[in-house]
Amino acid sequence: MNRPLLPSKHVPAVRISGTPATFHVKSFGCQMNVYDGERMAEMLGAQGMTAATGADSADLVVLNTCHIREKAAEKVYSDIGRLRREDGTRPMIAVAGCVAQAEGSEISRRAPSVDIVVGPQAYHNLPALIGKAVRGEVALDTDMPAASKFGSLPDRPKQPRPMAFLTIQEGCDKFCTYCVVPYTRGAEISRPWSAILDEAQALVDGGVREITLLGQNVNAWQGTDPAGRTQGFDGLIRALAALPDLARIRYTTSHPNDMTEGLIAAHAEVPKLMPFLHLPVQSGSDRILKAMNRNHSVESYLAILEKVRAARPDIALSGDFIVGFPGETDADFEATMALVRDVGYAMAYSFKYSARPGTPAADMADHIPATVMDARLQRLQAQLNADQIAFNSRAVGQCVPILLEREGRYPGQRIGKTPWLQSVHVTAPDYALGDMIDVDITATGPNSLAGDLKKRIAA
Ligand code: 5AD
Ligand code: SF4
Repeated sequence: MNRPLLPSKHVPAVRISGTPATFHVKSFGCQMNVYDGERMAEMLGAQGMTAATGADSADLVVLNTCHIREKAAEKVYSDIGRLRREDGTRPMIAVAGCVAQAEGSEISRRAPSVDIVVGPQAYHNLPALIGKAVRGEVALDTDMPAASKFGSLPDRPKQPRPMAFLTIQEGCDKFCTYCVVPYTRGAEISRPWSAILDEAQALVDGGVREITLLGQNVNAWQGTDPAGRTQGFDGLIRALAALPDLARIRYTTSHPNDMTEGLIAAHAEVPKLMPFLHLPVQSGSDRILKAMNRNHSVESYLAILEKVRAARPDIALSGDFIVGFPGETDADFEATMALVRDVGYAMAYSFKYSARPGTPAADMADHIPATVMDARLQRLQAQLNADQIAFNSRAVGQCVPILLEREGRYPGQRIGKTPWLQSVHVTAPDYALGDMIDVDITATGPNSLAGDLKKRIAA
């Protein structure tokens, strides 16, 4: 493919020489990238490097990239340009994540100031790649080894917040026709039971009270417990719920076809499993779902939601939507709107379809004009926003348990989360992050709630 001529900002400046002493990791995209970014930072810390306050002062900048939509993927190139400093120097630059995996050596051809390219399954090799870059050698690793990188990473240190992510599953075998993930993150793999329980215990020992289990298809997780029994995701959740000091468990992202009866039952039976389910459906039209290779119908999706609601009547539902998939007619889009109105999501993400090179949908006929996509997205988002406001409004007047997670802007103000993932601002100067308190919800906005402290909840 012909590339446009490189803009002048991509001409490499002089790199700060020598082994980097400070680093800055900037993550884009999904929560799994956030988790990977944290693990990279922890690993660089374990190598004796220290975290810089920002990209401007770091000797090494790691851009942990996202390839899911074109806009996200292109962003890396403007970010690289911005790393050039006024005095003509630049840091050592590593491009990590899914753009690194998808574009490989093409990245350094397009942006010669990039020193290191490292894929999401190879970042445990970052220290060795830094060594190569210091010696002026090509530093590229986009291998997808069968052996998991997690075993090569240092143990988790004490976490700054009482909530943490824990990746338990990676990759995807579903091959939705629009999606790059099966190519950038590889086939579905589940981390072993004991590695997950050990990491969870280390997080809890370090003060973490809420763990969000992550995976591209987190509910496809499977493994074997120490007694040699085959376990599904629900078994893992039940084992984690037995950790005494862990208060809350969440998970994301799930595929409808992996919503097993056992997992639905866990929502009814495991009090630590929070009443929130992010279950992407993408479209409300069976015709489009078929073209997307989703392998489920609108009816089967709604049947799952009905079962989940029967198990946990207060469950908050979330989803992902794509508008303007190739061939999407007005009628298909109206079917998506009808589904959204029918379900009443607590929150949801919605995107314009973005053609990704190498995916089957990119070669399909009837791509939808940008103006049509814009109009559809606007209508969908207006409905989703209204539903989110309605959902949040229903909390007003209720007393809800809040897990405090960070300091607010004002003295004594803390911000915490409801079981339904809503942020709540509350004045609670006598309580520490990680405490669980009951709060009377008094006011609501589209993105957060406000409330008055009622009482502390026993741990
Ligand atoms: N275009 C637009 N949105 C996409 N997603 C995945 N691939 C694409 C694409 N090519 C969305 C899906 C997915 C979420 C993570 O990103 O809705 O669930
Ligand atoms: Fe992509 Fe579909 Fe896999 Fe989700 S299930 S990561 S959308 S291929």
